[in-house]
Amino acid sequence: MSDGTTNGPARLRDVHPAGEIERILIAEPEIRARIMELGAEIAADYAERDLVVLCLLKGGIYFTVDLTRAIDLPITLEFVRARSYAGMESTGKVELSWIDGLDIGGRDVLIVEDIVDTGLTLIEIWRALEAKRPASLAICTLLYKEKRLAHPIPIAYIGFAIEDVFVVGYGLDYDERFRNLPHIAVFQPHESSG
Ligand code: IMP
Repeated sequence: MSDGTTNGPARLRDVHPAGEIERILIAEPEIRARIMELGAEIAADYAERDLVVLCLLKGGIYFTVDLTRAIDLPITLEFVRARSYAGMESTGKVELSWIDGLDIGGRDVLIVEDIVDTGLTLIEIWRALEAKRPASLAICTLLYKEKRLAHPIPIAYIGFAIEDVFVVGYGLDYDERFRNLPHIAVFQPHESSG
């Protein structure tokens, strides 16, 4: 079904009552190419190891699905749910689910995240996972807002360092919308909603 318009933010999935897509920051082919590089790097680093790739939901889902297919190793895939954002602001609190059942003792764990902003989410997850005594812990993030990092944390693999803008797409959301955009886009709130 079409509304007959093709210009401006006319695609219905690019608009939201609170704002709209301003521009594409990272296009699909760029994401794909970078993921192939990261996958090859990770496969080389973890050859002969027992690698558990731990996807942080929901944002890390698209990245994890593509990244794990680019890692030519017999990995194990696990999921943890982490929530810290409401709208465009961090709530300053992180809720973790499904950590309890994880079998990672003595294994190499690679945490896969969509974006590192202040680093608070990863600090919390790192602590919770460390308590389970893995052989090693490392982080792979698709996006990294360098200027915003408030909690120092080692990041082994970074897809793209980006400026301090609010982005959506490829797993990232604004109030649960836009995760299914195939690219990373800058989201611009309407003035009345900011
Ligand atoms: P941190 O704990 O401040 O590092 O925030 C990380 C989490 O906040 C990410 O997993 C995202 O869910 C969310 N987040 C941070 N920046 C953005 C953004 O620009 N767009 C969408 N979500 C974001």
